[in-house]
Amino acid sequence: VIITQGKYLASAVKPEQYPEIHRKEIVFIGRSNVGKSSLINSLTRVNQLARVSSQPGKTQTINFYEIGAKIDDDPGRKDFYLVDLPGYGYAKTGAQRRKIWSRFINEYLLGSEDLQFVCQLIDSRHEPMASDVEMFHWLVEHNLPVLVIATKVDKLSKNAVAKNISQIKRSLGVPELDVLPYSSVKNVGREELLNVIADCLLE
Ligand code: GTP
Ligand code: MG
Repeated sequence: VIITQGKYLASAVKPEQYPEIHRKEIVFIGRSNVGKSSLINSLTRVNQLARVSSQPGKTQTINFYEIGAKIDDDPGRKDFYLVDLPGYGYAKTGAQRRKIWSRFINEYLLGSEDLQFVCQLIDSRHEPMASDVEMFHWLVEHNLPVLVIATKVDKLSKNAVAKNISQIKRSLGVPELDVLPYSSVKNVGREELLNVIADCLLE
């Protein structure tokens, strides 16, 4: 895929606020601070497209980004949406907040007809948290295709990345799972993810 542009389109907490024009959607989910918004910026190469913060809990709404795309020799445009979600497992937002979070996220994840696959981001530096494992199983149970992405691999040695990715697979209970190593700082995994997206845009 050649990304020709990326722009913020809409924020939503209920279906009436979803974009009116339907396009294929690729969604990013993961704990607060895992690097969802940074990944969207690195993938699109549009600086500050998604707001990044070192403080967890930055993204609070379902954010739709309209991505202009072309596929190499294909003359037609293959525009799609990247969808950034608020992080889960962030205690500070409080129980009430968490309840609302899960309601509007579930509504989106289970209701969208345009959702192609869910990128679940897990921090490569640590063992997956209980919330990561729960989320993965919830997605699988609801028949949502999941691509697990191990983030921030620039912070680890190659050996440590391999070791921790094996641990992620074990924790999720799927030893044969494909996990994509990613670094938004070094653009590791970018081409691979764009290839996965290209396949789904061509379908
Ligand atoms: P919420 O919106 O709070 O759910 O967080 P998020 O998942 O969108 O994380 P965000 O992209 O805002 O990044 C959180 C912090 O991690 C920021 O300080 C980023 O600079 C840092 N970060 C994100 N990706 C990477 C990466 O690949 N490598 C390194 N070294 N730091 C990263
Ligand atoms: Mg964010």
